[in-house]
Amino acid sequence: MASTLRLILTGESEHDRRILQQAAAIIRAGGVVAFPTETVYGLGADALNPQAVRRIFEAKGRPQWDPLIVHLYRPEDVYSFSSEVPAIAEPLIRNMMPGPLTLVLMKSPLIPNEVSAGLPTVALRVPAHPVAQAFIATSGTPIAAPSANRFGRPSPTTAEHVLQDLEGRIDAVIDGGATPMGVESTVIDVTTYPPTLLRPGGTPAETIEALIGRLHRYRRSAAEGEALPSPGLSSKHYAPNAKVVLCEAKPNTLQATVQEWLRREHAIGVMRPLGWQLLESPQLRVYTWGEWGDWQTLASRLFAGLRWLESEGVEAIICPLPPAEGLALAIRDRLQRAASP
Ligand code: TXA
Ligand code: MG
Repeated sequence: MASTLRLILTGESEHDRRILQQAAAIIRAGGVVAFPTETVYGLGADALNPQAVRRIFEAKGRPQWDPLIVHLYRPEDVYSFSSEVPAIAEPLIRNMMPGPLTLVLMKSPLIPNEVSAGLPTVALRVPAHPVAQAFIATSGTPIAAPSANRFGRPSPTTAEHVLQDLEGRIDAVIDGGATPMGVESTVIDVTTYPPTLLRPGGTPAETIEALIGRLHRYRRSAAEGEALPSPGLSSKHYAPNAKVVLCEAKPNTLQATVQEWLRREHAIGVMRPLGWQLLESPQLRVYTWGEWGDWQTLASRLFAGLRWLESEGVEAIICPLPPAEGLALAIRDRLQRAASP
């Protein structure tokens, strides 16, 4: 494939409108275009065109059994692409969409098997990012999109990250700057009762439970060996090219873990919370992550930090582990997957 077109948005409305029309024309012709959402960059294709959808899997090197999220530009379209919306899903559609929430529902016959990987269900999401909404609306078709990274790599939060992984493998990327949230959407299966939290993400599970009651929390360890409720939940994921080492979230423990690993490996990276002191060493690369407890900032800088440390050639990345609640749970989940052997 020829080199990837970089479509840069400037904020000037006439220019940006032309850029989005150009991107939409590529989608209608069956091409693949990366675009920003409020979570991470997605790699989009016309969800109703099976051949275009196959190109997403080829570009990412993603296995065919892992289904894609279909992106819509307004919440009411959920009813057009699902054959059955249970009553328990309605408060979520009304209150949490647009936003970083994906619902797994029974699919409408309009959704090709290539999108749902042969499952009877489909994952639907309405992104809250104005560029994503305008791109979907201008394309005039729902957009199937996984995160715009090579399979198994950390999700991209900038157009540069997308090009690091996919330059020459996709038609275009819409460059709308860094994505604000930095972790992917929360995925809830509403075909089960109670609904199942398949992936913690940008919408805290507690927020969802306040609206619809207890969620079934799928536990990775308990289900080892069982069929996975979400194909993409295989634990090996989001892995940078360095070993990720997690430690208890205390400044002294981080310092001690770093000292221990400096004796073992040549070059060590650290995701360092603001103000946590570390002894200097020429073997050490430090990414100043953000204030511990400011989960929004830590989420938005997580994947950029992992990618930067990896580009510095470190052999291991030491990182304190966030707690299992609120937005911190999404960061914790991504780190645990990155660290799984
Ligand atoms: O924030 C996000 O969700 C981003 C942006 C681009 O929208 N997208 C994203 O897509 O993270 P992806 O493909 O990297 O992750 C989608 C997850 C996978 O774990 C996949 O297995 C699961 O959703 N999924 C998709 N369809 C499903 C279905 N029908 N049943 C169960 N899980 C499904
Ligand atoms: Mg992904």
